[in-house]
Amino acid sequence: MKKRILCLLIAAILCMSGCSTAGTTTTEPNETKAPESTGDVVVQMPVASRENGVISAEEWSEMFPEIYASYMANAENSAAIDHVEEYPQIAKIYEGMAFNKFYNSARGHVYTLEDVTSTGRPHPLSNCLTCKTPDYTALVNSTGVEAYKLTFEEVVDKMVEPISCYNCHANEAVEGTLVVTHQYLANAMGNDISKINASTLSCAQCHNEYYFDPETKATTLPYSGVVAIHPDSILSYYNTMGFADYTNPRTGTAQIKVQHPEFETFMGE
Ligand code: HEC
Ligand code: HEC
Repeated sequence: MKKRILCLLIAAILCMSGCSTAGTTTTEPNETKAPESTGDVVVQMPVASRENGVISAEEWSEMFPEIYASYMANAENSAAIDHVEEYPQIAKIYEGMAFNKFYNSARGHVYTLEDVTSTGRPHPLSNCLTCKTPDYTALVNSTGVEAYKLTFEEVVDKMVEPISCYNCHANEAVEGTLVVTHQYLANAMGNDISKINASTLSCAQCHNEYYFDPETKATTLPYSGVVAIHPDSILSYYNTMGFADYTNPRTGTAQIKVQHPEFETFMGE
């Protein structure tokens, strides 16, 4: 039985490698697979029901009920804290950019689409969906970096699945295989990618410090290679390109709004 699943998996990988570039996975809708008998349990490789080929968390739920339940348990974390109210200094420190008016705490992966559409901060382009949904990941991987220039309104209706299995496994969750589906992380790591634990990389795809390239609007990490993951190198990277997120009107100082550098902090340690 194990062998037969593996054969299906290999077939699926071969099929996908035909349409993928290094480090990314672009997926065609899967063919219907026959149920596999395991004696008393019938395990069926899920099929992506939507056109973009992303197998949803729910579609994996029959094969992995416990993993699905643990993923959905995040929904209990429904309350959000208003950080602007909690830390009044935010109103001053971030003056000149939208976080000084609206900055709620994170609630977790199943809430991303709800939170990104209800936020009090403007989002002119679709690139802010980069870390919110596998549907955007699949769009970027199939249409290329041009996708980052699409407006938020142009794509948001097609975004239906919050962060899920596909972001970390592509459609290869069947054996827990981890896939870096966000190409900008692979670009930033270059050959160093093999030095980093695959589980760390799976979170690093989004829990990082990034900026939107001023010209291409593409989500980009401000370093190349592992040794450049350091606050001083990152600051000099931004200074060299003359990049700032905003200018504080009170002090006239050009500032970087550091995002959520969990990966960088972790690697620094
Ligand atoms: C945010 C990233 C992320 C998401 C989302 C995610 N996984 Fe995983 N998954 C991982 C990591 C990391 C591991 C551990 C891999 C390891 O230690 O080798 C893993 C392991 C697994 C394994 C192997 C488990 C084992 O016991 O060996 C399976 C199967 C799996 N995931 C299925 C799923 C399914 C199904 C979903 C969606 C409901 C999902 N994953 C969502 C990151 C993710
Ligand atoms: C595809 C992007 C993406 C990936 C991959 C990802 N995350 Fe997240 N994560 C987010 C976003 C976005 C939020 C905030 C969502 C919200 O609240 O609307 C978040 C929130 C969280 C939170 C809640 C944070 C808090 O302050 O309470 C935790 C914990 C977390 N992620 C852990 C992980 C771990 C561990 C991994 C890797 C196994 C991972 N994430 C991979 C995007 C991602």
